[in-house]
Amino acid sequence: MVALDGPSGTGKTTVARKLAQRLGAGYLDTGAMYRMVTLAVLRAGVDPADSAAVAALADKTDFGIGTSPDRLEIRLAGEDVATDIRGPEVTKAVSPVSAVPHVRELLVARQRQIIDEVLDGIGGIVVEGRDIGTVVAPDSPLKVYLTASADVRASRRSTQDTAAGRKLSVADALASVERRDHLDSTRTASPLRAADDAVHVDTSELSIDQVIVALSELASHRG
Ligand code: C5P
Repeated sequence: MVALDGPSGTGKTTVARKLAQRLGAGYLDTGAMYRMVTLAVLRAGVDPADSAAVAALADKTDFGIGTSPDRLEIRLAGEDVATDIRGPEVTKAVSPVSAVPHVRELLVARQRQIIDEVLDGIGGIVVEGRDIGTVVAPDSPLKVYLTASADVRASRRSTQDTAAGRKLSVADALASVERRDHLDSTRTASPLRAADDAVHVDTSELSIDQVIVALSELASHRG
């Protein structure tokens, strides 16, 4: 198993999927799970800052997530929401929702269950998030913490969003990246933090392929 943590815009999602393909492993995007709960909150007209209401809604949310790196499957009550969960409204509201302790308890339990099933089945999984090496799977044999400078991350976010048809300037992307980093790393419930034994990889100057080669090498020794 590979635990891949780090802030947004480090290339984590692309790296995690491609690494899983290369290793013939499963893939779990835990950020997509927090985004699904957030989408459900917004659709229900619940205030993302109302922790009690968010917690109650999370209990009722019927979401499903696939673990194949080749075919993304992200469903809310059966509906494919892979695109909707990446929209600006969800991105803006996801940090307060994921700071609610009950939401984290629910999702962490579900994540551990999915990881166990995949490990029992195909034997390997790459899991990406913010607290995988610290909370979800602290016994993971390989923990990687991806970083990149805030400028590089903002410019990647802006390119990604523009490619997906959502216009986002680099300045707005930088403000959004910094705001989310701050919220995610200062929350009380399992904040974004590198595990003490994580390998730090700075992707600012590296291509995705260079990162994958470096991580496959590490995984062949420890994964
Ligand atoms: O990785 P992604 O940008 O999709 O994550 C969206 C948000 O979900 C993060 O900003 C963070 O608030 C939350 N998250 C989390 N714990 C994880 C994964 C994501 O709190 N393991």
